[in-house]
Amino acid sequence: MSKEKDVLILAIESSCDETAAAVVKNGREVLSNVISSQIALHTLYGGVVPEIASRKHIEKINQVIEEALKEAGVTLSDITAIGVTYGPGLVGALLVGVAEAKAIAYAAKLPLVGVHHIEGHISANFIENKDLEPPFVCLVVSGGHTHLVIVRDYGEYEIIGKTRDDAAGEAFDKVARAIGLGYPGGPKVDKLSKEGNPHAIEFPRAQIEGAPYDFSFSGVKSAVLNHLNSCQMKGEEVNRADLAASFQASIIEALVSRAIRAAKEYGFDKLAIAGGVASNSSLRAAMQEACDKEGIRFYHPSPIFCTDNAAMIGAAAYYEYQKGTRHGWDLNAVPNLKLGER
Ligand code: KG4
Ligand code: ZN
Repeated sequence: MSKEKDVLILAIESSCDETAAAVVKNGREVLSNVISSQIALHTLYGGVVPEIASRKHIEKINQVIEEALKEAGVTLSDITAIGVTYGPGLVGALLVGVAEAKAIAYAAKLPLVGVHHIEGHISANFIENKDLEPPFVCLVVSGGHTHLVIVRDYGEYEIIGKTRDDAAGEAFDKVARAIGLGYPGGPKVDKLSKEGNPHAIEFPRAQIEGAPYDFSFSGVKSAVLNHLNSCQMKGEEVNRADLAASFQASIIEALVSRAIRAAKEYGFDKLAIAGGVASNSSLRAAMQEACDKEGIRFYHPSPIFCTDNAAMIGAAAYYEYQKGTRHGWDLNAVPNLKLGER
């Protein structure tokens, strides 16, 4: 009896400030996951500078791919297909990965599979949760996106809610900057919050009339800025830990309440989270507690698979490859690519 051939994806991710490559076997087994982060560079400017990101990707991408192949113990001749993020993201940054993927696929005569960045984040859940299969609800919370998604099947998504203004990660980053924590703010707010009282300051929890699954974080962000201003005017010292913890609590409540409501109303007993903010320790704890209470199974990737990486792109590319998705040499970077669009 012949064993079905393994599908090995060489995946590339360069949509923002990480140059990443990975080799993933059959969608769920990560043979290598190499990430070259530019964070230290962008920290100097308080955020990602697109032009610098593109240049750095060009400098690093060949080396990162070579390392990923080497670490996996394979050569290009073992690879089944090339997967690459082609949107959404910074156009110049995306272009580096897309051009590289096309060049390798063309030279090695391999199929090319373009992947949506958010599909990658969602698929990160498949890597460590071998039992997780669609359908399920997934809350995607990253620096650029806050989406509540029904994952109907592999590669089939229905967005039921999204943010009307800032993404959750963006709100974390802006508040972190306002209280002097620097970039990227999410992990720093997470850490400082552990020393603060989440009930110290009552920040607004926005509800959008007629859109129960939509989010809005600009109100809480403004409330934090107002609080800082009023403390300054009164000459009062700001308790940054209390401020961080109270801000974080308001964001988490909005995320958890909507995700749980969606799982219950749509009748799913599986809920996953994804994206950079999904590594937030309080969000994970609050979501776990709420899921336990409702009899919902809670899935989340390890932090290394939450923030941008190429293993998640390899997982997503595998399922797209199995469905027959193939892209041509005209594949382009699409900075505002919509989930589910081809
Ligand atoms: O998914 P990601 O790496 O990149 C995008 O696709 O945007 O997400 C980055 C975002 C940043 O806003 C960062 O501050 C946030 O994720 N983040 C966190 C934590 N770790 C990263 N936010 C809250 N708590 C964390 N522990
Ligand atoms: Zn991301």
